[in-house]
Amino acid sequence: MASSRGEFSSRFGFIMAAAGSAVGLGNIWGFPTQAASNGGAAFLLVYLVLAFTLAYPALMAELVIGRHAHANAVRALRLISTGPKSRFVGGATGIIGFIVASLILSFYAIVAGWMIAFCLSSATALLGFDDASTWLSSFSLEGNLFFMLAFLALTVGIISRGVQDGIERWSSRLMPVLLVTLVLLVLYVLSLEGASEGLKVYLLPDFSRALEPSLIISALGSAFFSLSLGVGTMLIYGSYISDKENLPVLGGMVTLVDILIAVVSGFLIIPAMYVALHNGVEIFDSTGALISEDTLIFTVLPGLFSTMGMAGTIVSFSFFFLMSIAALTSSISMLEVPVAYTIEEHGVERKTSVMAIGLMIALASTVILFNFDTLFGLVVAISTRYAQPLLGFIFCVYAGWIWHRNRVLKELRKGSEDVENTLFWKIWPWYVRLVCPMIIMGIFIQSIFG
Ligand code: PFF
Repeated sequence: MASSRGEFSSRFGFIMAAAGSAVGLGNIWGFPTQAASNGGAAFLLVYLVLAFTLAYPALMAELVIGRHAHANAVRALRLISTGPKSRFVGGATGIIGFIVASLILSFYAIVAGWMIAFCLSSATALLGFDDASTWLSSFSLEGNLFFMLAFLALTVGIISRGVQDGIERWSSRLMPVLLVTLVLLVLYVLSLEGASEGLKVYLLPDFSRALEPSLIISALGSAFFSLSLGVGTMLIYGSYISDKENLPVLGGMVTLVDILIAVVSGFLIIPAMYVALHNGVEIFDSTGALISEDTLIFTVLPGLFSTMGMAGTIVSFSFFFLMSIAALTSSISMLEVPVAYTIEEHGVERKTSVMAIGLMIALASTVILFNFDTLFGLVVAISTRYAQPLLGFIFCVYAGWIWHRNRVLKELRKGSEDVENTLFWKIWPWYVRLVCPMIIMGIFIQSIFG
């Protein structure tokens, strides 16, 4: 059954695909800017602790359930259920998961469209087409619509080719390009004047901020968003892994790559801000805090690039190219969630499913673009701040409470005979059973009432 529904052909292919899903705008943009405005290395520390103690166990919950069922989240959660109630909640969680994955894609495609537009803006500037370049970076409504659609078309094109020819092939091609581009950019930026100031901000911890509840909430949200948890993406990728593979090791590698790229991106973005300051670009807002979010990416950094002449245009092109690739390898994983569901549960053909769902998401993105001020922030908050941790909580409950411990062990043994004797098996079951659900709930309640 597994092979007829698609399977990653190699361990490398899976790691590239899952790391491709995990490594996205959240790592290169979200993590460094949050770190910069939340106590630098202190945030990094909180993030690392949460990533290893909460996000990795939650990732493993999704991978194990997915690999066991070799099916989408709806069927998988029903399969491990023990009674009618848990079957119902499991099915509902899978369905809400694919709705949330589609919602995330609907705002992600807009942002990714901006990245492509800015990348082309630098390319046209290099070729001397200044008017085109200015238009491309002007955020016009037509431009936003066009590039959102172009980005979704790329995503649809890859997903319609299936697991090996689409997801695995393109992730394996794009991820190494991403890594090389990122490292070259970091090396270049660190060689510029002002960069060391940024390094200090990034690496000197301000512990007075590290234990603020708001910081821990954003670090948890970041860690969940960054590892693509809660919406069934990792579950569906897990379902395409062969029974021969050692899951705890694979999950560990994906977590490590994700964290590594986030940390390395910090060495790019934060020093770049201080190089910008050195070159006369404003990097603090009126309250004295570092400028973050969209103003950082689309005003401060382009401001920096424009002070660097021709080299700046090349760096700008490389930076937005990097962002576009990171976004694409993540968006394909989001689209695969609803697509896999409709193929497996409703017998729809892959190409038809991809087209229909792609069109629905394009429509949702268009509605967001036309009502940007009211809808954009709302969709981001609902899907990433609330839905992802809550759904992640339910996945942990299923792996820790609903699914029988011996069956979980049996599944894990498939790829590693002696898993019972490993540190992983001594710790992980307790984490998914108690630690993860309790901490996620605690932080979640804090974020609503705190
Ligand atoms: N992990 C991606 C990022 O860091 O940008 C975002 C993401 C991808 C979230 C896939 C959810 C998802 F299902």
